[in-house]
Amino acid sequence: MHILLPYLAALGLLAVPTISASVTIPTYVYDYAPLVWLHSQDAYRPSDLQAQLDNTTPEVDWKPVQGAPSPLTLNNLDQLNNLGNTSVYLTSHEGIAANPQPAWLRGVTPDASGRAGNITACAIVVVDHGEGNIDAFYFYFYAYNKGDKVLGLEFGDHIGDWEHNMIRFANGTPQALWYSQHASGQAFTYGAVEKQGKRPLSYSGNGTHANYAIAGQHDHTIPGINLPVGFLLDYTDRGVLWDPTLNAWSYTYDPSTAVFTPSSPDVPAAWLDFNGIWGDDQPPGEPSIFGEAEFVAGPHGPKFKVLNRTLVCPSKPCIVLPFRIWAV
Ligand SMILES: *[C@@H]1O[C@H](CO)[C@@H](O)[C@H](O)[C@H]1NC(C)=O
Ligand SMILES: *[C@@H]1O[C@H](CO)[C@@H](O)[C@H](O)[C@H]1NC(C)=O
Ligand SMILES: *[C@@H]1O[C@H](CO)[C@@H](O)[C@H](O)[C@H]1NC(C)=O
Ligand SMILES: *[C@@H]1O[C@H](CO)[C@@H](O)[C@H](O)[C@H]1NC(C)=O
Repeated sequence: MHILLPYLAALGLLAVPTISASVTIPTYVYDYAPLVWLHSQDAYRPSDLQAQLDNTTPEVDWKPVQGAPSPLTLNNLDQLNNLGNTSVYLTSHEGIAANPQPAWLRGVTPDASGRAGNITACAIVVVDHGEGNIDAFYFYFYAYNKGDKVLGLEFGDHIGDWEHNMIRFANGTPQALWYSQHASGQAFTYGAVEKQGKRPLSYSGNGTHANYAIAGQHDHTIPGINLPVGFLLDYTDRGVLWDPTLNAWSYTYDPSTAVFTPSSPDVPAAWLDFNGIWGDDQPPGEPSIFGEAEFVAGPHGPKFKVLNRTLVCPSKPCIVLPFRIWAV
């Protein structure tokens, strides 16, 4: 920009066009960002967003979407909203039951610095509610969710897996956190959670990537209630430490207009508006026992995770625990 333009604009002598929409993310959103302990034996690590598009075909009713952008990128994924909208499934080329599984489902293991190669597997979304009240969402992406075993049978495997933590800040000070777990999750005060320095720790379930505040075994038979023993178990441990901020893009989300704005003009944002599913649909005729199937449909993306929250939790009841215990 010409050196005089800002001064002319300030004097009201020139209307400066908006060159590109980008926003500044408060530094405390990074300073307090969670660190994620991936399970030592988890075969399914953080995965690149664009790789999910490269390894899938958008389909509706198991038929390729006609007129879909080619190549499909994170800058044009939202165009599928006009070509099937919520019925679009990013369907894997190999199929969910492929055996052996394709390598792309396994993601990238973070190195000793906590960085998962050069992939982008995290989206940080900042929602400003005014008066210093900010919710920072940290969305984690995995190409595959391996479900838990019950009585030797496996349930709930799906392609594409979105999980998140959310930290609620007041004037730059963290107040409380949300840990997503399957269809629900748990909330804690910032003071209650385990930290490394300022940064809260999140323990990721082996295969399911549900986020817990404590390492160990977690029963999630009853959503939002975390018990050390039970029927449907997630396992967490201090396996591999992932620093999601090293593999992240950042955005703001305006709670009145529902518009996402990236932190820099070269960061893709259109993909956040995609209304479809990040993996295969449940295969037709998939056998199920008590309504539970081995292979199930993939998930929606971040915009469906209640970004405009009143409470720390996406739904009621919302109990913000002041200490870390197994059960509510
Ligand atoms: C963790 O998952 C892997 C497969 O991804 C499996 O081989 C291993 O047995 C699981 N470990 C536990 C403790 O569940
Ligand atoms: C697409 O789905 C979204 C989310 O359910 C809905 O709000 C929108 O109206 C739909 N758009 C079209 C074109 O059907
Ligand atoms: C990341 O990208 C840089 C620059 O392109 C390259 O030198 C480096 O090897 C890449 N690292 C990994 C782990 O792929
Ligand atoms: C966000 O939530 C606030 C408070 O509940 C509400 O007034 C507003 O309409 C919501 N915004 C959208 C886009 O729904």
